[in-house]
Amino acid sequence: MADKKAQLVIEGAAPVELPILTGTVGPDVIDVRGLGATGHFTFDPGFMATASCESKITYIDGDKGVLLHRGYPIEQLAEKSDYLETCYLLLNGELPNAEQKAQFVSTVKNHTMVHEQLKSFFNGFRRDAHPMAVMCGVVGALSAFYHDSLDINNPQHREISAVRLVAKMPTLAAMVYKYSMGQPMMYPRNDLSYAENFLHMMFNTPCEIKPISPVLAKAMDRIFILHADHEQNASTSTVRLAGSSGANPFACIAAGIAALWGPAHGGANEAVLNMLDEIGDVSNIDKFIAKAKDKNDPFKLMGFGHRVYKNRDPRATVMKQTCDEVLSELGINDPQLELAMRLEEIALTDPYFKERSLYPNVDFYSGIILKAIGIPTSMFTVIFALARTVGWISHWKEMLSGPYKIGRPRQLYTGHEQRDIVDLKDRA
Ligand code: CMC
Repeated sequence: MADKKAQLVIEGAAPVELPILTGTVGPDVIDVRGLGATGHFTFDPGFMATASCESKITYIDGDKGVLLHRGYPIEQLAEKSDYLETCYLLLNGELPNAEQKAQFVSTVKNHTMVHEQLKSFFNGFRRDAHPMAVMCGVVGALSAFYHDSLDINNPQHREISAVRLVAKMPTLAAMVYKYSMGQPMMYPRNDLSYAENFLHMMFNTPCEIKPISPVLAKAMDRIFILHADHEQNASTSTVRLAGSSGANPFACIAAGIAALWGPAHGGANEAVLNMLDEIGDVSNIDKFIAKAKDKNDPFKLMGFGHRVYKNRDPRATVMKQTCDEVLSELGINDPQLELAMRLEEIALTDPYFKERSLYPNVDFYSGIILKAIGIPTSMFTVIFALARTVGWISHWKEMLSGPYKIGRPRQLYTGHEQRDIVDLKDRA
């Protein structure tokens, strides 16, 4: 894998030879692991030019707008696959055959319920708590219930934990919503598909069970597929870092949920709708575009820009199509959509956004579809977390099934040199 070499010349020292590693696709990387022996470290806050691990799960070409899961383009997965099949692919490396798929779906369905005692946790939260705050708590709490699958060195335990997480996330997400609404929590129904079951637990009540619209279930499933994984983003890297210390999978996923919550990451889908609310009317767009460009104003156009995509976000293209399908099927004429489309149009032609390659990302459209489905804004990031859990756990499993070290970055220290404590009475 390493045939080319890079040479680093440090003034006053002998040149250091660094191997260059080549992946299957994508840029080569300079292997700096040996650099520590020279007494130097690399400095790259925000990982602008640093690969944190080797992975076989997901590949992104940000310039071409390509996203592949185990080699398959996201557009094909969204069209020809379904979420549980995509989960199988991410977790196992290959798409399942019919028998493997039936077995996997049945295994996931066997794990959809959560321990009854877990319900007690909800009562400790205020009803108006943000759903992501509750999710961090209840997902972390799973490690207090499933002791039989916590040995991270046992591949079977890792497998069971992965399935448990994929199976229980819709149940927990719907429980969080029902708790916030003061409605009874709904048990999962294993005769329904993954997406149908989620919508059933979200919107049905014990006194009224309505059939789930196939159009909405398909849109929900597609949203899950589009959010399933995205290589080494902030939350996935958080899961890997937490996992590298030997923490149990439920604790690691809770850490991932916390990292996802921020508005620069998964919290952006909620922030997009809040922003559209704030803009209010097409006539105000220019004012907000000016704010987004003003370096003295912290306002950013939510749902625009991406660290890796510098052309288009392929997930956004599929999401926009789904958005059009859902809105026309439901006959919704959403003024916010009109506002969003106008905003997109202006941003795409404005030199500020063009020069910086700021295109609409997946979160720009997902919120509009989720809103049309009837999901409240505060639940948007929970849906992202539900769908991303399979990506997180696939990366966690990949890391643990090969050689790995605890993640321990170094720093460029710019604080005080050593100094002595002055007695309190003598301090200025
Ligand atoms: N609105 C206005 N200006 C922006 C925006 C934006 N949304 N995004 C980036 N910029 C500007 C930024 O100010 C900088 O300008 P300059 O070069 O003059 O200083 C330039 O574009 C480069 O941006 P950056 O902040 O250095 O880029 P980054 O890679 O560190 O940040 C980002 C990427 C996604 C955090 C950022 O674009 C952003 O905050 N976008 C809005 C939040 C958002 O939609 N997040 C969802 C990301 S997709 C879902 C996911 O994977 O989580």
